[in-house]
Amino acid sequence: MVNRNSGHLAVLGAQWGDEGKGKIVDLLAPVFHIVARAQGGHNAGHTVFVNGKETILHLIPSGILHAGVTCVIGNGVVVDATALFAEIDQLAEQGIDTTGRLFVSDRAHLILPYHRDIEAVSEARLGRQAIGTTSRGIGPSYEDKVGRRGIRIADLAGGRTSERLSSLLDSAVVARNLAVGTDVMSAESLRDELSELWERLAPMVTDTATLLHTALSADKKVLFEGAQGSMLDIDHGTFPYVTSSNSTIGGMCTGLGVGPHAIEAVLGIVKAYTTRVGSGPLPTELIDSSGDRLRESGKEYGASTGRPRRCGWFDAVAVRYAVQVNGIDALALTKLDILDDQPELPVCTGYRCGDTVLTTPPGSIEDLARCRPEYEVLPGWAGSGRCAGVRREADLPARARAYIVRLEELTGAPAAIISTGPDRNDTIVRESGIATRWLR
Ligand code: IMP
Repeated sequence: MVNRNSGHLAVLGAQWGDEGKGKIVDLLAPVFHIVARAQGGHNAGHTVFVNGKETILHLIPSGILHAGVTCVIGNGVVVDATALFAEIDQLAEQGIDTTGRLFVSDRAHLILPYHRDIEAVSEARLGRQAIGTTSRGIGPSYEDKVGRRGIRIADLAGGRTSERLSSLLDSAVVARNLAVGTDVMSAESLRDELSELWERLAPMVTDTATLLHTALSADKKVLFEGAQGSMLDIDHGTFPYVTSSNSTIGGMCTGLGVGPHAIEAVLGIVKAYTTRVGSGPLPTELIDSSGDRLRESGKEYGASTGRPRRCGWFDAVAVRYAVQVNGIDALALTKLDILDDQPELPVCTGYRCGDTVLTTPPGSIEDLARCRPEYEVLPGWAGSGRCAGVRREADLPARARAYIVRLEELTGAPAAIISTGPDRNDTIVRESGIATRWLR
């Protein structure tokens, strides 16, 4: 039986990704035994600064930076083993040993080189309607999974002689060669590559759902780490300009094989403004110099691809929706310091679509593209103090505190954590917030 006041916490992005989950998970991780990832792949980029040193993790949960923490890559994640090994090697160079504390689900699907090639072809075919993916093969791997022809990690155990693996690879390579048309991939060399990968992967592979079940039954504390953001969710996001997995709360259960009661609380991470990489409507986007200013001061360039992020004002419609679909209990508000120089801060309270003002995002992407933001303009705190590096709530400028209160009212969730800089220590844990349970 799982204890319902268990202290297990889910942390997920409540915008379009890049909200700063890496820093918040890193902050919380020391009080958890396990940090588990449920979905996505190495399209994610979790940036963590410790003592001024930057580490970017793509696939491995951010908890790995803490020696006593076990990390799980669940069945809902799509795994590029080569990318995983590169990350393990990078951590080893920094003196972080993952041996015996990083586990990968035997049910997770693999990303193989043909997935990346197929993605390149399909993005090119879409032309101006391209999704603007991270080009990591994420979508095609999930397509193979749902199409029931994907290769799971457990399929590698049979080695080169496995009939099942051989026939899956043969069909996939034929499909890839047809789609790409020019250079030819050989299933034979892929089989060699996979048996080499398996050698290194095997010690990390296990039934992670059972590993988690055992841990939960023993009252070990688990932090469920989300990737991407709610508005990139395949069901609830701005479809089709989304990623291919459920980045909302349900994805935690299916992607790790745990029941909903295993999660005691949901912490939604939100940036104090809005960013997005890739294509698709972004109602509060600033396509002028104010967007450029936000991008430069917030260093808004993709952690995985280096692409400039599109920037805009805080969109309370999107975040309120994320609060609703995830049952978010509290928010962690990040990058408040980036707004230090703004004289005023428009906040989007509704989407004007023709004669109506919507308070939730429309289902049709064409309607969303037509929506114009309705703004409430709040005064900035430029000239009356700064948030950068502030570590006590009382030291925040009064207008920054008012901004937070208004975001809480508009989104329907209290801010439990406020981040005022990239370092672990540039953080305010609010006395009354749920985070005190984990961080005091
Ligand atoms: P994919 O996940 O590579 O298929 O890309 C689909 C969409 O999700 C694109 O707009 C990507 O830019 C976006 N995306 C995927 N992962 C992340 C992330 O970690 N942060 C922000 N955007 C992401």
